[in-house]
Amino acid sequence: MERLGDDPESLQRAAEKLRDGGLVAFPTETVYGLGANAQNGQAVARIFEAKGRPHFNPLIVHVLDLAHVSEFGIVNAQAEHLAEAFWPGPLTMVLPRREGCILSELVSAGHPTVAFRSPAHPIARCLLEEAGVPVSAPSANPSGYLSPTRADHVAQAFKDIDGLLIDGGPCRIGLESTVVDLSSDGPATLLRSGDVTLDNIRAYLSDVVLPSDDTPLLSPGMLASHYAPHKPLRTNATTAGDSESVLAFGDSVPKGGKHLQNLSRSGNLIEAAANLFEMLHIAEQQDVTGIAVAPIPGGGLGAAINDRLRRAAHGD
Ligand code: TXA
Ligand code: MG
Repeated sequence: MERLGDDPESLQRAAEKLRDGGLVAFPTETVYGLGANAQNGQAVARIFEAKGRPHFNPLIVHVLDLAHVSEFGIVNAQAEHLAEAFWPGPLTMVLPRREGCILSELVSAGHPTVAFRSPAHPIARCLLEEAGVPVSAPSANPSGYLSPTRADHVAQAFKDIDGLLIDGGPCRIGLESTVVDLSSDGPATLLRSGDVTLDNIRAYLSDVVLPSDDTPLLSPGMLASHYAPHKPLRTNATTAGDSESVLAFGDSVPKGGKHLQNLSRSGNLIEAAANLFEMLHIAEQQDVTGIAVAPIPGGGLGAAINDRLRRAAHGD
């Protein structure tokens, strides 16, 4: 990544890069994030590619304030109370996705929810303002490594990645944000603890629970349930039945089938990742009894795509 300072021209360049679908690592008050335009599926797919994650998990969407959230998610009274108390700051709120929401499906990894955070760091805020788009950003570390709290950590880990890195010095908190799930009708659920504590939240919401009494907090990236289509799915299909919807990949087009979508006509895994959840949702709504998916090569993002297809095929 190319390292930049935090002067106005650099921030302008970084904002442009984000709008154009590129990757920008930037400081927040918690840890450095690896950002992409959350409305651009291929840009979001590049985050997963760069991190080398063997699976897709949903990403936090960074916005300036609650007014922006309401464009994409459904804001309830609990969210209003917590935003009033803790935003901008190290609190992430999981909310229902608004119907017709223009965020990439990949930021939700197929779930009907989106996690939102309004960072307090002036550089992060300036970048969001200049870019004018919501920015999805996980911590800027390769999968399996510690979260980065200094620009040096990011520079070392992502030496060979095409993108920009804004050096804003060390992060004040150094620990990822607190994640609270407000998407159900039930009580709020603390999914990850951080600088905003359970007691802090309880001062504003009477009903907050941990995922379950005897299990520890879900470790970052682990969700209790995975998205699975409601119709049977077959992987590595070379032929399809008359009542199956087909997902092809490049030249690999299963013969037969009722409807056909191609994850990427040119056989590009980044494009396929960007299309995956959207096309599965479409196939699910078609008048078919099942979904047949062509073989997907295993390299790079192929591992994460195959992981998700395998889970879908096994219904977990
Ligand atoms: O402090 C932070 O939160 C940093 C900075 C960059 O903002 N970001 C961060 O992102 O730590 P990440 O991707 O490393 O962690 C996001 C956490 C994961 O545990 C993920 O599973 C959870 O948030 N998450 C994201 N979207 C979710 C959703 N729709 N439902 C439930 N959990 C979600
Ligand atoms: Mg992380």
